[in-house]
Amino acid sequence: MLLYIHIPYCDSKCYYCSFNSYTTKHHTKKVYMQRLYKQLEYELDRFEVKRGDIATLFIGGGTPTTVDATMYEDIFELISPYLNKNAEITTEANPNSATKEWLETMKSFGVNRVSFGVQSFDDDKLKKLNRSHTSKDAIRAIQSAKSVGIKRISLDIIYNFAGDSTKSISNDIDKASLLPVEHISAYELTIESNTPFEATPYVKQNSTKLARFTADYIQQKGFRQYEISNFGIPSKHNLGYWKLKEYIGVGAGAVGFRGNKRLYTTNSIEEYIKEPTKIETETLSKEDMDLERLFLGLRSKIGFNKEVVPKDKRFLLDILIQEKKLLFKNGKYYNKDYFLADEIALYLSN
Ligand SMILES: C[S@@+](CC[C@H](N)C(=O)[O-])C[C@H]1O[C@@H](n2cnc3c(N)ncnc32)[C@H](O)[C@@H]1O
Ligand code: SF4
Repeated sequence: MLLYIHIPYCDSKCYYCSFNSYTTKHHTKKVYMQRLYKQLEYELDRFEVKRGDIATLFIGGGTPTTVDATMYEDIFELISPYLNKNAEITTEANPNSATKEWLETMKSFGVNRVSFGVQSFDDDKLKKLNRSHTSKDAIRAIQSAKSVGIKRISLDIIYNFAGDSTKSISNDIDKASLLPVEHISAYELTIESNTPFEATPYVKQNSTKLARFTADYIQQKGFRQYEISNFGIPSKHNLGYWKLKEYIGVGAGAVGFRGNKRLYTTNSIEEYIKEPTKIETETLSKEDMDLERLFLGLRSKIGFNKEVVPKDKRFLLDILIQEKKLLFKNGKYYNKDYFLADEIALYLSN
């Protein structure tokens, strides 16, 4: 079982970001965390979670570092008995608000992995993305995490923003690899609806050459690619999502998954505070689930079984093996080039 906790607050809104988060509702934090506790109690019961069942916990956002570390105490007290003794406990962190004290307190609650949103080590690019930190802040925050004893540190970068080049991206990756990180996520900029960048879509470059360069260069630095955007020591939590394991999602805008159902809370902080256990359900058909398994299997090292491919398309699998696009091993198919994942998924689906 996986658990995801959503913190819908940010200090400022990055121009590319469509995640559910607010910059003007910080006054609701205290009561929000209390309601989150309520939903968590409800979900632990509804999912029939037993002692030691939770293998991974991920606190994401939004910006978890905008909430005072002491405000997480009750939540950790509630879930402690349910956490597996080797549980991977990750929090996202923004460089401007991840203080040494915050990191230290979270570590004392059990956090053993921190994922920093760095995006770039170029201050000019950070400004253009409307990030509220400098590259120096990012280096300092990562060093603080290391100094308080967090062993597993990850950082995110964004590429294919207008002006990115092999020189600027290799500079970012060089700087990242000098830091004590075991994992890098490199996301290609996506222009999302209802974001400031929607009005200026030309800020995204469409360079497949730079995408491949980014992946190759990160691998040259010793971080192995295990998913289209992820490199290094895999996050168990993400692997769990891609294997379609069940997960509890708590907080405004969090998503849960059980059996063949997706469970949605409201995006609105106010509505959530009123009714934290009001949850909408979406039922996935067998075809939806198979397609999801195919996409996720092709985008990552987890691979897929023949059964998720529609019967009338299965003959194409042998062709893809002959063309050296797929590898067949121990009854499963594996993609040899994650950048072709969507193309192959479309080829294999109706
Ligand atoms: C949940 S978000 C934010 C975590 C944290 N608040 C931060 O910004 O540092 C996780 C990551 O998604 C990536 N991301 C979000 N929106 C994106 C977009 N439109 N295009 C590419 N990457 C994006 C960023 O790299 C970000 O660090
Ligand atoms: S990228 Fe992170 S800090 Fe920026 S708006 Fe999105 S959630 Fe907030």
